[in-house]
Amino acid sequence: MNSKWVIWFLISSLWLSCGDKSMSNGPNIDPDDLTHIEYNPSDFNLNIPDNFPQMDIPPDNPNTVEGVDLGRLLFYDPILSVDSTLSCSFCHLPVGNFTDNLALSLGVSGNSTIRSSMTLLNIGFVNSGLFWDGRSDILEHQALLPVEDPVELEADWIEIEQKLRNNNTYPSLFRKAFGIENILEIDRELASKAIAQFERTLISSGNSKYDQVIRGDAVFTDQELQGHDIFFDIDEDINRHAECGHCHNAPLFTTNEYFNNGIQTPVGDNTFKDNGLGEISGNLFDNGMMRTPTLRNIFHSAPYMHDGRFETLDEVIDHYITGGHPTDNLAPVLRPLTMSDEDRAALIAFIRTLEDLDFINNPDHQNPF
Ligand code: HEC
Ligand code: HEC
Repeated sequence: MNSKWVIWFLISSLWLSCGDKSMSNGPNIDPDDLTHIEYNPSDFNLNIPDNFPQMDIPPDNPNTVEGVDLGRLLFYDPILSVDSTLSCSFCHLPVGNFTDNLALSLGVSGNSTIRSSMTLLNIGFVNSGLFWDGRSDILEHQALLPVEDPVELEADWIEIEQKLRNNNTYPSLFRKAFGIENILEIDRELASKAIAQFERTLISSGNSKYDQVIRGDAVFTDQELQGHDIFFDIDEDINRHAECGHCHNAPLFTTNEYFNNGIQTPVGDNTFKDNGLGEISGNLFDNGMMRTPTLRNIFHSAPYMHDGRFETLDEVIDHYITGGHPTDNLAPVLRPLTMSDEDRAALIAFIRTLEDLDFINNPDHQNPF
């Protein structure tokens, strides 16, 4: 068994044993009437950097301070798993840029997921489908899935709803966030809405070196500037064009589009071990396509790609230098690159300017327990 899993298990069991005491027979809550608890939610001000696009927020789930607080608790609370051992955060940790830094994640029973955990940084700006293959449309629907996933939280929503209703803390928090009048109104939809509200707050700080340079508050070193020009094909020497910026475009460092970036060797006629988007759309031409991930804070989310096949950015660049496995739908901009060691180092130095430690250390994102 993975040692990280064991440590997590010990920590969460410890938390649960403490939690049981502090939460048992808590405040005077009448399960049939919560109306004496104040319901007066306040708007949550999303701190979106000036150079970012607007975020689409479903009109029936505006962010409120109370909703975000509740969502954060649920995100970090192992109560959402079958045996109360694992939370969403087990696979999406702030320190790993909201990934678990594993090639494949481990669920409650210690079994592996088939794909690598994804960063939740700037997740509120993803409007082209969630997951590597885009199979879920909005965060409110996505959050329903890990709870019942047989290799993630392995639970049953009916039981989780029951646990939340019987808990002494959650009824008043659901009341404050959503104005429910009795505990029976606590359900998966409201839990997912709260989690989605919290996830929409996971936004870049705007303090990365890259953002400072864009604002005119800092300047790139010569090496970073060279890397920038290689990344965005601005360098005068065409041989130094790396094509990255077509798909990992500023300011989010992804266009959120789907591509086959040539990492998988075909196992048949445009068919791959993981068909990604093609599995969902049923279109052979979509096989092997995945949603382009952001490169912001990428140093903190290794290993890389949907199957975590690359440990380092050096390996990633080695891949792009080859131009990728030739397949029917390989993205047309991909081609073998000529890159000197100096160019490589410059490209990595530029990508490093996307590091955002203020995002990782933001106290509002951390485990509230
Ligand atoms: C056992 C590990 C694990 C747990 C627990 C887990 N996730 Fe994930 N998460 C993953 C993996 C793996 C993926 C990618 C799966 C795929 O694409 O098929 C993912 C993808 C996502 C995505 C899509 C991100 C994107 O860019 O499209 C969101 C959002 C997300 N998880 C939120 C959550 C929430 C909310 C919870 C708790 C309710 C949760 N996760 C629990 C492993 C986990
Ligand atoms: C044609 C579009 C395209 C181009 C050009 C491109 N990428 Fe990607 N990139 C993708 C897609 C799609 C993925 C996800 C593929 C997968 O996991 O199957 C990806 C994944 C990555 C990842 C892994 C991210 C993670 O969270 O695991 C890194 C790092 C990366 N690309 C860096 C680069 C660099 C550096 C360049 C330029 C040398 C580049 N990319 C060029 C589309 C592109």
